[in-house]
Amino acid sequence: MDQHPNNERVGSRVPRHVAVIMDGNGRWAEQRHLPRIAGHRAGVDAVKGVVEACGEKGVEVLTLFAFSSENWRRPREEVGLLMGLFMTTLEQQARKLHKNNVRLSIIGDRSAFTGKLQTRILEAEQLTRANTGLTLVVAANYGGRWDIARAAGRIAERVKAGQLRPEDVTPEVFETDLSIHDLPAPDLFIRTGGEKRISNFLLWQLAYTELYFTETLWPDFDRRAFEGALASFASRQRRFGRTGKQVAAAEGA
Ligand code: IPE
Ligand code: IPE
Ligand code: MG
Repeated sequence: MDQHPNNERVGSRVPRHVAVIMDGNGRWAEQRHLPRIAGHRAGVDAVKGVVEACGEKGVEVLTLFAFSSENWRRPREEVGLLMGLFMTTLEQQARKLHKNNVRLSIIGDRSAFTGKLQTRILEAEQLTRANTGLTLVVAANYGGRWDIARAAGRIAERVKAGQLRPEDVTPEVFETDLSIHDLPAPDLFIRTGGEKRISNFLLWQLAYTELYFTETLWPDFDRRAFEGALASFASRQRRFGRTGKQVAAAEGA
């Protein structure tokens, strides 16, 4: 496998990093005449299956969009139930993830959460920080625009302090202030639930990610569905601006 700067990888058939918009929980529940929260609960079960599959396939990083900065616009009741589900899932799963050597990392503006939830998040991160298996990134109260604006603010602080000149702000310098800058960029993006949009997920980090959209609702996204996404990824040629011939030559080398 040929390793390029900027996380460009030629010829790798298994993605190192998969990023997922887990959409369709509400519709899954509505189809069954169940309350929407039942769909979110079923969604947590689907997460367990995909986490396991990532471990088996050798995926190094799995990033899951759990709650967007726009999801506060939902009815208060649903927001409250989602926060409760986040809390109980952390409490129930942190030890199990730790036992499975998973490193958990939460990205997003956690200052909007209750003190208790912030504590649970920190505890789970600290418990699992030295683990060497799958890195599981959960985006909660996350927005791609928030991420970029926060990085711009940090850069501005460094310029103001005389540590950095404006002309030195390259993409490589800029991205060191973004979330998950220490991880490889996502190779494969999956959105379940049929919508074809990014919904303010990882805007910067998805610049060269392969996009995969499926009608399958998130609670139905099982191992076979995940394998379908991996197969689609494996069949693609990533060119990063080069010609197909150049890439084929590099892959054959
Ligand atoms: C995704 O499922 C989960 C969250 C946004 C928390 P939705 O709740 O958006 O499900 P649909 O899109 O309404 O079916
Ligand atoms: C995106 O799903 C956010 C998460 C899955 C957490 P939404 O259901 O909120 O997206 P939109 O509003 O349909 O674009
Ligand atoms: Mg949705």
